[in-house]
Amino acid sequence: MPIRNDAATTAFWLAGRAATGAETFEVTSPWDGRTVGTVSVPTEEQVEEAVAASVAVQAEFAATPAHVRAAALDHVTKRLVERTEEIAQLISAENGKPIKWARGEVGRAVSVFRFAAEEARRFNAGEAMRLDTDGGGAGRLALIRRVPKGTVLGIAPFNFPLNLSAHKVAPAIAAGVPIILKPAPATPLSGLILGELLAETDLPAGSWSILPVPNDRMPALVQDERLPVISFTGSETVGYAIMDSVPRKHCTLELGGNGAAVILADYASEADLDWAAQRIATFSNYQGGQSCISVQRVIADASVYDRLLPKIVERVEAQVTGDPTDPATEVGPLVSEDAAKRVESWVDEAVQAGAQLLAGGKREGATYAPTVLADLPEGTTLACEEVFGPVLSVQKVDGAAAAFAAVNSSKYGLQAGVFTHDLQTAFRAHKVLEVGGVIIGDVPSYRADQMPYGGAKQSGVGREGVRYAMDDYTYERVMVMTGLEL
Ligand code: SIN
Repeated sequence: MPIRNDAATTAFWLAGRAATGAETFEVTSPWDGRTVGTVSVPTEEQVEEAVAASVAVQAEFAATPAHVRAAALDHVTKRLVERTEEIAQLISAENGKPIKWARGEVGRAVSVFRFAAEEARRFNAGEAMRLDTDGGGAGRLALIRRVPKGTVLGIAPFNFPLNLSAHKVAPAIAAGVPIILKPAPATPLSGLILGELLAETDLPAGSWSILPVPNDRMPALVQDERLPVISFTGSETVGYAIMDSVPRKHCTLELGGNGAAVILADYASEADLDWAAQRIATFSNYQGGQSCISVQRVIADASVYDRLLPKIVERVEAQVTGDPTDPATEVGPLVSEDAAKRVESWVDEAVQAGAQLLAGGKREGATYAPTVLADLPEGTTLACEEVFGPVLSVQKVDGAAAAFAAVNSSKYGLQAGVFTHDLQTAFRAHKVLEVGGVIIGDVPSYRADQMPYGGAKQSGVGREGVRYAMDDYTYERVMVMTGLEL
């Protein structure tokens, strides 16, 4: 069966094998509207087959030796390296992501699978806990090991269609937990190509499926009691609707953010401000700002504000916007023209409410120009919500305490960047900022794929980052041994 070529329908992956259903849908490029692929949709019977197969294989998969799971993950790592260019082109075509960022995304997925292979080898050796710390526990020792909670339903977003799929699939394989991945309807091809690599391994049939199920059929999967763990990345509205609909399930939700970059008074040399301005300009616009940790808010101390602002504007205006296939392009289209129109309407609302437009503010089709605003009035949509577009606003504050309060004034709490050289201030930021990650000397957009990643407040629940996802997919089971000489 042809799995994928320009003329053929792209198959999905049912219990580890390629399959096609009765219907198809088209994947189009947000840049020029061309058809990038035609994807087969699984029928309800095929979805049932995948779920049943995942349940049937649970015990076998959990018992698979670590070296077998690690070898499979190593294989995917190697094949991702070998097929980097082809996969990057695919990500760029279906998502509109500039090719330089798409290559970076494949590189990160390589790391995720490599970390997962390493974790598979050391996972679950068990932790011993002596229990004779109380009289009643004399001669007793607990061995704590982790066991799978059950099949994971991974729901991936469009913005990092390969790497955020990797963040769901690789930890599941490392921990011996079956997974059913549902890629985003706008960008299913990057997730499906992962299936080609997994199909080359010896992983047991049923341990993984990749099903491009349309969003209107997602509730049935979410409700399925045989899928007790849901790992979702996407919007706050959809994430909380999922969690509210299945309160007894374990849900990991990676939701929105409106990432703040704080520049404090001690970060004041020309070189400091040049670095901060460049990082802010790059990471408010990378992938059209469609990252939950892109820079949306710049909070600058009054003592550096007037020197920093022109540097940011200059560098934002220098961002190269255009065709995502051009290696020079830094900012491509948003995922759709509707997405760009939404961003446009938020910026227009802010400007009408009194915000100063310092750069950008224009839309052409699905592309929105890198935009800088100052004096953003409180209460505007842009001030309160995640823009998920190439837009940043700059705010002046007096001192670190006011800056940290401004960061915390958001309903979101994913990551924050704090530009300071002062160790005490760094520790204070880490202590008081209500976020999942504080990046000192850089933008909030920095993410290393092995570190715990996730939000506080309405940015989500739980953590990804290979080892942390493995913990989320499993639970501790204790064995108490008695009558021991400790
Ligand atoms: C996200 O948008 O939440 C993911 C950001 C990243 O992985 O860099």
